[in-house]
Amino acid sequence: MNILILGSGGREHAFAWKLNQSPKTNQLFIAPGNAGTALLGENVPLALNEFDEIANFVRANQIDMILVGPEAPLVDGIVDYFREATEFSKLKIIGPAKYGARLEGSKEFAKEFMMRNQVPTARFKSFTASTLTEGQSFLENLKPPYVLKADGLAGGKGVLILNDLEEAKLELKTMLVDAKFGAASSNVVIEEYLDGIEMSVFVLTDGANYQILPEAKDYKRIGEGDTGLNTGGMGAVSPVPFMNDQLEQRIKNKIVEPSVRGLKDEGIDYKGFLFIGLMIVDNEPFVIEYNVRMGDPETEVVMPRIKSDMVDHLIACADGTLDTSVVEFEQNAATTVMLVAEGYPEAYEKGKEMTGFDHLGDCIAFHAGTKMENGKILTNGGRILSISALGENFKDALAKSYRNADRIKYEGKYYRKDIGFDLMEY
Ligand code: AMP
Ligand code: GLY
Repeated sequence: MNILILGSGGREHAFAWKLNQSPKTNQLFIAPGNAGTALLGENVPLALNEFDEIANFVRANQIDMILVGPEAPLVDGIVDYFREATEFSKLKIIGPAKYGARLEGSKEFAKEFMMRNQVPTARFKSFTASTLTEGQSFLENLKPPYVLKADGLAGGKGVLILNDLEEAKLELKTMLVDAKFGAASSNVVIEEYLDGIEMSVFVLTDGANYQILPEAKDYKRIGEGDTGLNTGGMGAVSPVPFMNDQLEQRIKNKIVEPSVRGLKDEGIDYKGFLFIGLMIVDNEPFVIEYNVRMGDPETEVVMPRIKSDMVDHLIACADGTLDTSVVEFEQNAATTVMLVAEGYPEAYEKGKEMTGFDHLGDCIAFHAGTKMENGKILTNGGRILSISALGENFKDALAKSYRNADRIKYEGKYYRKDIGFDLMEY
């Protein structure tokens, strides 16, 4: 197989690392990729919203499979674009078509899908500028904290959790009337606050059958103790140590099964990853959100734990035979710690020279925001390097991630020293 991975982060490096181990992989291309993916395949400078250019590349390089990393091209309809052209009828493209991508692209669409398919989630109601007053009265009838969600994609910033009623009413107006998150907040979902512990499950589905991948917990805030601004993710742990048989069964029966059955019953063209963000309240799972792709940095802990051949699974996914392609994973643990740029997630500088790669040991350093220039590795993003490690348990893996995080040097290096802090009791 000639495979093209779309994206440039740690997730895509982890995919490239895993796919590169398969005997079925012939040529591997990553667009646009980073300094890490360049060691595993060929980086190609394609823009992810230029579908015609991607098609030209696919044609010229006899690409058999495209694995779409981030959500934006999916929400923009890259799968539909290739499905519509008969010349690409044999191309395997991993990701949902545009309609299914709305599970991530629209919170309201996702909530309505959950309601139709009896997937447990927080109670909600959605509002627009013309129903602002109703929205404000709805808030008055809820207990704090108040959860306000911009309907559309807002780069992970579109969710506000507020304790004060007046502030919540004002923010609702700012979102709906003053377009706080642009068009993304022209529709706002207000939902009940769920008090529990978060984790994520990852499902590979062909729209009818599915395989469950290792679960994970990520750390989204920039500051220790889960404080400060939201980021793309500062670290992750897999498995979650609070998992038990009962919870596992509930997640499968109450969340995964009805979600996949919903895709099938509603005839949704979905051959790809479904990332289900959960809140566990008293050992009961509720869906907080769907994403139509893998997580980053969750992929950096999920891929290292999978034993079986990911290319086989992706082929089965595209062919609709995932029931016979059993994902096997190790009973070990994986952790990752994200090294970021000073200032991230606000303004930060790029182009800092990185050193210390030769001193790494007993870890996998997945590049997130790096580039190679004149034989040097330079920082090229806010999230820079995701240091993953395996261990018998997560504490053991974390010690390795941290030992290696220390060995990488660049100006302005920052990382959270407390990944897994809330799991120590387990
Ligand atoms: P989302 O973008 O939907 O993942 O939301 C961002 C974050 O807000 C989540 O990771 C949760 O920490 C939090 N959150 C979202 N919805 C709720 C809810 N209904 N109750 C409590 N926390 C929530
Ligand atoms: N780490 C969260 C995400 O990928 O959305």
